Amino acid sequence: MQKSRRPFHLETPIALIGFMGCGKSSVAHYFEKHYKIQVIEMDREIEEQEGKTISDIFKENGEPYFRQLETELLRCLPTKPLIISCGGGVAMRDENVELIKEKGLLIYLELSPETVYYRTRKDNSRPLLHGKKTVEDIRELMETRIYQYEKVADITVNVDKKTIPQICRELIEKIENINKK
Ligand code: S3P
Repeated sequence: MQKSRRPFHLETPIALIGFMGCGKSSVAHYFEKHYKIQVIEMDREIEEQEGKTISDIFKENGEPYFRQLETELLRCLPTKPLIISCGGGVAMRDENVELIKEKGLLIYLELSPETVYYRTRKDNSRPLLHGKKTVEDIRELMETRIYQYEKVADITVNVDKKTIPQICRELIEKIENINKK
């Protein structure tokens, strides 16, 4: 029998951060579907605004241009409760972190390089993973980021070997605990 889902009310915006493949979009859409919370997927917004894919933006305009678009998008975010599914590089810029923290919480979805490898091995849509063919390649790139993800996170949830509903339940508990303080 399916367990009933208990009600959950989001009080501030939350931003999901973490390495590529950690499930930010899937977690965000679970909240959208089951709790009717609005989601902003940064990569999709930027693709729509530019009329091209992230890969083409990197190829034609370069990574610094893309990073600027991310920051500009964060400057325009509303302050109402919603879920922002960030690209994996968003939290690497302190200015972005400050823009999010002014309004809400940063949630870090942590995972192992093995899980990233398994989830992204057949995907060509992420320019920064081109040529990253092994777990070791991914570990190397992850190691340049983990320190910052951990430093800026208000909440961390490890997602290895967990289902999306399990991750969301854990996340809800942690958000409620923060709200109680
Ligand atoms: C990036 C992650 C991607 C996308 C772009 C750069 C990164 O988003 O923003 O390819 O720097 O880690 P996902 O984390 O949703 O894959």
